[in-house]
Amino acid sequence: MKKIVVIGLGYLGATTAVALNKMGNRVIGIDPNPAKISSLSAGTVPFFEPGLDEALTEALDSKQISFHSSYPQEAKDADIFLLCVGTPQAPGTKAADLRYLEAAIDELAPFYGENSIVVGKSTVPVGTAVQLKSRLSALVQLPARLAWNPEFLREGNALFDSLSPDRLVIGTDDAFSERVLDELYAQLTEAGTPMVKTDIATAELVKVAANSFLATKISFINAMAEISEQVGADAVKLAEAIGHDARIGNKFLRTGLGFGGGCLPKDIRAFQARAEELGLGESVRFLDSVEQINIRRRNRVIEVAQETFSELENLQVTVLGAAFKPETDDIRDSPAIAVAELFASAGSKVRVHDPKAVANVRAAHPQLAAFDDLQRATAGADLIVIGTDWFEYGLIDPAQLASWVRNRVVVDGRNILPVAAWQKAGWKVVALGRSIVNEVASEFVLQ
Ligand code: UGA
Repeated sequence: MKKIVVIGLGYLGATTAVALNKMGNRVIGIDPNPAKISSLSAGTVPFFEPGLDEALTEALDSKQISFHSSYPQEAKDADIFLLCVGTPQAPGTKAADLRYLEAAIDELAPFYGENSIVVGKSTVPVGTAVQLKSRLSALVQLPARLAWNPEFLREGNALFDSLSPDRLVIGTDDAFSERVLDELYAQLTEAGTPMVKTDIATAELVKVAANSFLATKISFINAMAEISEQVGADAVKLAEAIGHDARIGNKFLRTGLGFGGGCLPKDIRAFQARAEELGLGESVRFLDSVEQINIRRRNRVIEVAQETFSELENLQVTVLGAAFKPETDDIRDSPAIAVAELFASAGSKVRVHDPKAVANVRAAHPQLAAFDDLQRATAGADLIVIGTDWFEYGLIDPAQLASWVRNRVVVDGRNILPVAAWQKAGWKVVALGRSIVNEVASEFVLQ
């Protein structure tokens, strides 16, 4: 059992804290937000993540986890200080804002002991760990040990990904830290999880590279969607066809409104900013195209509406979905919200529906009318846009929805609707990337 201080209790930190407790460790969670601390201490996760509430309750029952807004004395000499704070995009630049990491080092320093190690999990520009280590060195009279252990969990699958990762990556530059991390993850590696051991710079870079690759894969298929729309082809069928090639694979080829969230968009921007600083901007110039393709998909929905309705002003538009993807209430950089905003600025009357994210929409976008009731969200609508691929949207009864709306026009921004059934119920269906809609083979699942 290790004593682990988890610093930052957002999507990453809260999940990691619970997972590390489940793996048999004593966990001390730290976050400056008192509301978050009281919520977690009472067994309620302050955001929606499937299975996490139950796991948190179990963790609290073990009495081996506690949450604090400032360091308790017990944190002294912890085995591991785990950095899970956010690295958001800094205002006015593409670069990541590292101030929360710097503050985390300053705050943990008085509790750092002879046998402690600091381990970074946050996504950072390559070179950050070196800076954090020298910051720590200046604050402690002991050898400063800092390792990097990037996290690959996906929101919506966070607990599963933490407890059954497809790989572990640890970057170290001292044998002590390597040994502590070996011990920490022994039960996972013994169960067969591959562990890639490397230097710190590579470990930092792995995470940024992985997210850049994923974003590129999505924009690749969305570029094919742009071509398909023009030439009368079907990008969903195309993805199915190329996905059968094991070298390409069927994952992350779902075409539609593109990627959003708190990670992929800001990570590809921060990577470009870091590459520019290194004089290597050219090496990742393609990420600029990746982002442009991603943004054009959102604008495409507006174009479709303009082609269908002569006037967007006062058009009643309902965007189904606000979360950046299903099974989360996270609306950061959400493509669905971006589309809603585009319609709102064109003068349309916009309503947004989401099964989980309504509270977040109301807090962050008070100008958008947000509902979790489908009928209230769609009554009298001229245009329905599927903005998030919530499973339940694929199950909507098109005949019933037809009886609520004013015009039967739907843009399927996530390619989840059974198009033939909707057409049969009198809907004009525009499926992004599919000028000809072919049914997808049912045994083929694009993940
Ligand atoms: C992403 C990575 O997948 C994780 O491995 C990583 O740990 C995490 O970022 C992070 O850096 O913390 P996440 O942001 O939870 O995870 O979301 P993804 O599942 O990657 O989806 C990102 C976006 O891409 C969503 O908006 C989703 O709708 C979109 N997407 C995904 C597509 O448009 N098409 C696809 O085929 C797949």
